[in-house]
Amino acid sequence: LTVRVAIAGVGNCASVLLQGIEFYKIGRREGLWHKRVGGLAVKDIRIVAAFDIDSRKVGTDIADAANEEPNVARKVLEIPPMGVRVEAGLVEGEVPPHLRNERIVKSDARNVVKTLGESNADILLNLISSGSNRASIAYANACLKASCSYANCTPTLVLKERSIVSRFRDAKLAIVGDDLMSQFGGTIFHRGVLKMMVDRGVKVLKSYQLDVGGGAETFNTIDEEIKMVKRRLKTESVVSEVPYKFETIAGTTDYVDYMNNDRTSYFWIEGRGFMNSPITFDVYLRSSDGANAGNILLDVIRSVCASARSGRYGAIEEICAYAFKSPPSKMHFDEAYSRFQEKFVY
Ligand SMILES: NC(=O)c1ccc[n+]([C@@H]2O[C@H](COP(=O)([O-])OP(=O)(O)OC[C@H]3O[C@@H](n4cnc5c(N)ncnc54)[C@H](O)[C@@H]3O)[C@@H](O)[C@H]2O)c1
Repeated sequence: LTVRVAIAGVGNCASVLLQGIEFYKIGRREGLWHKRVGGLAVKDIRIVAAFDIDSRKVGTDIADAANEEPNVARKVLEIPPMGVRVEAGLVEGEVPPHLRNERIVKSDARNVVKTLGESNADILLNLISSGSNRASIAYANACLKASCSYANCTPTLVLKERSIVSRFRDAKLAIVGDDLMSQFGGTIFHRGVLKMMVDRGVKVLKSYQLDVGGGAETFNTIDEEIKMVKRRLKTESVVSEVPYKFETIAGTTDYVDYMNNDRTSYFWIEGRGFMNSPITFDVYLRSSDGANAGNILLDVIRSVCASARSGRYGAIEEICAYAFKSPPSKMHFDEAYSRFQEKFVY
């Protein structure tokens, strides 16, 4: 049994994913969260198609595109040529800020559907830059035409469009999203600390999470419009752990080019304990974006494939709540993980 994967957006996340597949396919375990998901091992994953719009990447083998500028993900190993050529992708109006001075190569929906169809992809991972909302919807439509499930890792709210979800269900395909949640990044860490405070009877008053990082994605995120959208999604994800209103802000505040694919998240939380005694939490977390997406992407690929094969279609609730910041139905992160584990970790 294998799962055939197409990728839209050969950026830092894709680069780490490809390296991770090479790293783990020979049976290594260190750093791998789940050895098998839906009965599939990492060695069962095949990359069969790829799309990008950056002229430095289109037309090259995906292994070369993964190392191409402006990607800055850490290089742990050399990805061997994969025989998968990066095809021109879809642009529907918005151009990511980091590509505004570069040559863009775009294609039309018919070509994308054709490539997806001919590659027999089971799933398309949408890893394009944030802010390209219309393109993220266009890739969903291409999947419907090519009979391919869809994972939207970008902050575009694709699953909020109920008609799209029902078209996936009717076509007997799965759709999951929106906005990938890292394995141990700022959002899940913030949620974890808040939940522990609530569980231990501490009243949460205020918190913030200020993220600073490098890489094209952070560069794009400091664009005011994209920044506010991402901030809203992160903040909504964080507040879902606290059963009452409190003041909080979570989001990217700055871009520092030499941080490359790394990110530092600064947290400050204020609470009250016994007889209103003050409790303050002031720490930072340093992590690497691409690497933080690796385990989750491997789990999404394998669980989506397992759901579709077992006859579950449309939005798969357990996958959305475990692996994404804005799932159609919100769940506490520990409940989401136990439900994911129960259904898929075998
Ligand atoms: N841990 C994480 O890294 C993480 C967490 C949550 C969400 N995400 C989301 O994943 C996505 C990818 O993140 P990244 O760090 O790899 O970004 P990146 O900027 O490194 O890569 C994005 C790639 O998409 C390409 N692209 C842009 N528009 C495109 C289009 N219309 N069609 C095809 N390709 C297009 C770019 O040329 C680039 O190669 C982003 O939307 C980000 O918000 C990532």
